[in-house]
Amino acid sequence: MLNFEFYNPTKILFGRGMIAKLDEQLSPSAKVLVLYGGASAEKSGTLPEVRQALGQRNFKEFGGIEANPTYETLMKAVEVVRSEGIDFLLAVGGGSVMDGTKFVSAAAKYDGEPWDILTSQGEAVQEVVPLGTVVTLPATGSEMNSLSVISRQSTGDKLLFGNPKVFPRFSILDPTRTYSLPMRQVVNGVADSFVHVMEQYMTYPAQGMVQDRYAEGLLSSILEIGGKIVDAPEDYDVRANMMWVATQALNGLVGAGVPEDWTTHMIGHELTAKYHIDHARTLAVVFPALLKVRRDSKREKLLQYASRVLHLTEGTDDERIDAVIAQTEAFFESLGMPTRLSGYDIGQEGITAIVGQLEQHGMTALGEHKDITLEISRQILETAA
Ligand code: NZQ
Ligand code: ZN
Repeated sequence: MLNFEFYNPTKILFGRGMIAKLDEQLSPSAKVLVLYGGASAEKSGTLPEVRQALGQRNFKEFGGIEANPTYETLMKAVEVVRSEGIDFLLAVGGGSVMDGTKFVSAAAKYDGEPWDILTSQGEAVQEVVPLGTVVTLPATGSEMNSLSVISRQSTGDKLLFGNPKVFPRFSILDPTRTYSLPMRQVVNGVADSFVHVMEQYMTYPAQGMVQDRYAEGLLSSILEIGGKIVDAPEDYDVRANMMWVATQALNGLVGAGVPEDWTTHMIGHELTAKYHIDHARTLAVVFPALLKVRRDSKREKLLQYASRVLHLTEGTDDERIDAVIAQTEAFFESLGMPTRLSGYDIGQEGITAIVGQLEQHGMTALGEHKDITLEISRQILETAA
């Protein structure tokens, strides 16, 4: 097992009606800014429930954080935080609102140009405004991690930063608050969670017994939930399991002490930046192609997954690996997600552009062995063509 430090201070309040506990999480004198996205939070009743839970407390609201949150919009929230003397941020939404709020948290206290926070991958973070979240879309795990992905319209960049100071102080997860999600977003959450676990599992054996079994438990659960969730739109237990799985898929525990890949995400972020494809859908294109190109270096874990999660016992090792890849593609397709770039009309020219963006962002040594060069990234994209 590899050495690791694990730290996760986020308090989770999970279940039906838990938004009512908001009041207990905040000091009575807190000056709160509630941040949200488009119309969904109001329409679904989550925002009204949050307002009620905040009671007589002094709070302001900032709406309009878009999917794939932009620096341009978030800097407007930074101005509000500064001018109103806000001392607590409450994100009400999915990954975009939570990530955006983390950026506002760090940018509002940053002495300098806040984009530095992204270019330094979070090292530049100074002080922060503390934050909490009310989750409406289980997918990214942002509610229990210290990561944030921000886009900049003017340059077309989509960059990630991480810093322990932006862990949410608390996150409220009420599965009934996800009932209003369009099915497209629900399945995005299933696919994103699946790939989060895979990025921390599908590498090489590192004798992380607990991590492997934990990852395999999450993967089995996600496959099972994926098969049920489309036909059970308001099934509490399905939604509750989806929500808890998504949080654990990226709260740091699965990846502690084991190698991690993240190639699929890094290439996927470039596809979203250039073509505005939903985050999870980029992963459905890249991940199967990554498995095909890296089947030799991932061989042992592919076989472990084949036997422990998919229960594949027939055929040679190579046949079972073929079956893993075919079943992974079929899983994404069953969620209605294309697994080829051609599904988005992206051809050779697009592949060259994405490789150029990877180079520009220094993504030249990806993967668990840091040996995925630009040439191999190109090969992955060509395999996904
Ligand atoms: O804007 P509104 O009207 O609120 O609609 C949103 C949005 O259009 C809607 N929605 C959210 N909750 C809803 C709802 N609609 C109805 N009912 C509800 N309960 O869903 C749409 C998509 O929301 P978004 O927050 O963009 O989706 P998601 O949670 O998938 O987040 C994606 C973002 O997270 C980043 C991605 O790159 C992307 O920018 N990621 C963040 C990570 C992290 N912080 O750890 C890791 C991930 O790998 C990912 O990169
Ligand atoms: Zn993701």
